[in-house]
Amino acid sequence: MLFKQIITAYNNKNIIDMSLKYEVNVQELVKPELYNTKMNSEVILKLSNFDDIGMYHNYTSKVMPGYTQTECGFLEKVFIDKKEPVLDVMCGYGRIANELVKRNYKNVYGVDFSDYSFLNVDKDFIFSKDGFFHYQPGILFKYLYSLYNCYENKEYLRKVIAKITELSADNAFVILDVFNKEWRDKIDSEFYKLLIDSFPVKLEVSRHYDDATGVETTKYLKTMSDNKQEEYSFSQKFFTQTEIEESIDYKKWDIDFLTSDVVGSRNNNQKRILVLKRR
Ligand SMILES: C[S@@+](CC[C@H](N)C(=O)[O-])C[C@H]1O[C@@H](n2cnc3c(N)ncnc32)[C@H](O)[C@@H]1O
Repeated sequence: MLFKQIITAYNNKNIIDMSLKYEVNVQELVKPELYNTKMNSEVILKLSNFDDIGMYHNYTSKVMPGYTQTECGFLEKVFIDKKEPVLDVMCGYGRIANELVKRNYKNVYGVDFSDYSFLNVDKDFIFSKDGFFHYQPGILFKYLYSLYNCYENKEYLRKVIAKITELSADNAFVILDVFNKEWRDKIDSEFYKLLIDSFPVKLEVSRHYDDATGVETTKYLKTMSDNKQEEYSFSQKFFTQTEIEESIDYKKWDIDFLTSDVVGSRNNNQKRILVLKRR
């Protein structure tokens, strides 16, 4: 498998690290407490689009810091040379990029539509507030990753991978995760949770999943003290292995398929994780 080749291509220490990683995964697993949040109703009151509310939801999730640590642990296994330029595709507020800087990566870049300034999180990396498809940093990256991002459909995933290809150096490695349809098909198609009900606002989240298309729609319903309501929704796709294979140009990339339970980056196989090496 390509991933084994990646690992064996480097030194013995790394091989040992990798096998240890597989053994310790079980202990590293983080219990699912996704909706046990630390949200503040005054902050929610000010947010008025899906991305801001979704990001605040993630930011306040108690399990996210654990996920960030395990995800960065995995990136470190593949992104060996910490001096090489690394790109965080659709980096959000920079939860992963900031952690890579802490782990001594010297050239970390990130791009996102939004800077999420309301979170007051410093960005200790080279951030561009830009649409990914317009992003022209003027360099090629040895390492790129797109983690915990949402793809509305196969075409969007194909476009993201094509742009990643445009920005990658000859010997690049890419780590990308997508939601796994096989996992989602086994979970209830309807979901509802009251996230917070604290004056002056109530926030509810609901999800509906269509297993025929693999598309899940998430809705946030915000109710103010005067009973005025605002609804924000977003749809994203869960992918089969075949759908992912159809989105990748095999002439340009060698690819290895993993899942989040194997990598330890999530506590189940919610994610399909792709390790791509430029041909
Ligand atoms: C679910 S968040 C994940 C953020 C980050 N990858 C993380 O793991 O925390 C998805 C992010 O993708 C960004 N995004 C979506 N489409 C984009 C595009 N075409 N260009 C730039 N950013 C985009 C959104 O603004 C949002 O911050």
